[in-house]
Amino acid sequence: MSAERPPEERVIDLGVELGPVRLPNPVLVASGTFGYGNEAVDLTRVRALGGIVTKTVTLEPRSGNAAPRLHETPSGMINSIGLQNVGIERFIAVKLPELLALGVPIIVSIGGRRVEEFQEVARRLEETSGIAALEINVSCPNVKEGGLEFCQNPASAAAVIEGVRQVTRLALWAKLSPNTSSIGTLARACEEAGADGLTAVNTFVALAVDIHSRAPIIPSGTGGLSGPAIRPIALAKAREVVRHTKLPVIGVGGIASAADALEFLIIGARAVQVGTASFPRPWLAAEVVDGIGRFLREEGETTLAELIGSYRDPRA
Ligand SMILES: Cc1cc2nc3c(=O)[nH]c(=O)nc-3n(C[C@H](O)[C@H](O)[C@H](O)COP(=O)(O)O)c2cc1C
Repeated sequence: MSAERPPEERVIDLGVELGPVRLPNPVLVASGTFGYGNEAVDLTRVRALGGIVTKTVTLEPRSGNAAPRLHETPSGMINSIGLQNVGIERFIAVKLPELLALGVPIIVSIGGRRVEEFQEVARRLEETSGIAALEINVSCPNVKEGGLEFCQNPASAAAVIEGVRQVTRLALWAKLSPNTSSIGTLARACEEAGADGLTAVNTFVALAVDIHSRAPIIPSGTGGLSGPAIRPIALAKAREVVRHTKLPVIGVGGIASAADALEFLIIGARAVQVGTASFPRPWLAAEVVDGIGRFLREEGETTLAELIGSYRDPRA
């Protein structure tokens, strides 16, 4: 039937498979940029989203870093939230039921300072039902309280993934740090450790200085840079990850339009996450979904699969 319709009316299935996880479309909202995911219900068409990644949840509640935690930069921002969250117990009791009621795939982001903490959080979530996947935040550059340096070191990141793999059957996405000498090596280490998908990337370590006080504007010193300023670098990192592994890649970094999301899909990401751009425009991710559908119709493509990885790589 749909073949007889004029091109502008053709219905295109935007559904996508990421290993064991099936999403209704490839556009999610990124961890930490959409509250827990339920606060924005009145601000956007939540059900139009491909999924919601929650803010990172840790074993114990955390009050986060000292203010100011955000600093605006040209086309971006530096943040140092410090993983403020309600802790896993309250998350499961209060936040998760509200999130699951939204009728959208829910991916729970988990964090910790030691492998055992990640494992305990995963174990508790394993006892719940309805979660689509866990995103393992092995990449936060802001938590410095001892423990392993998860973000730069492939062996430490792999130890976390391996540890979590032992305690849960849930699909695991490893959220990779771009602050490493070889993101391809990091990606492969997480793949070998049992990840089902790779989210690339988290924020870039960044610094802003108050020229009068001569002190860093963010009290903890450096923070993580996000927003449109990082998009071309994030895209290059995501492409490296695609080239180095066979796992589905979820691209993230500076996406603020459907065209931005399309770049990530073309270089081989199977899904994308919208982060910082949701702050001024919480409805943006839903618009990106519409824009991808429109682009496929205009290009005469009938499935998302034709688009994903269609990059003409001069190195290939
Ligand atoms: C204010 C803020 C809070 C964030 N909190 C988290 C978090 O809790 N866990 C996580 O994995 N990433 C977190 N991120 C990183 C984003 O999920 C995303 O990877 C990054 O911002 C790059 O995407 P963007 O440029 O579209 O924002 C946070 C980003 C921002 C700006």
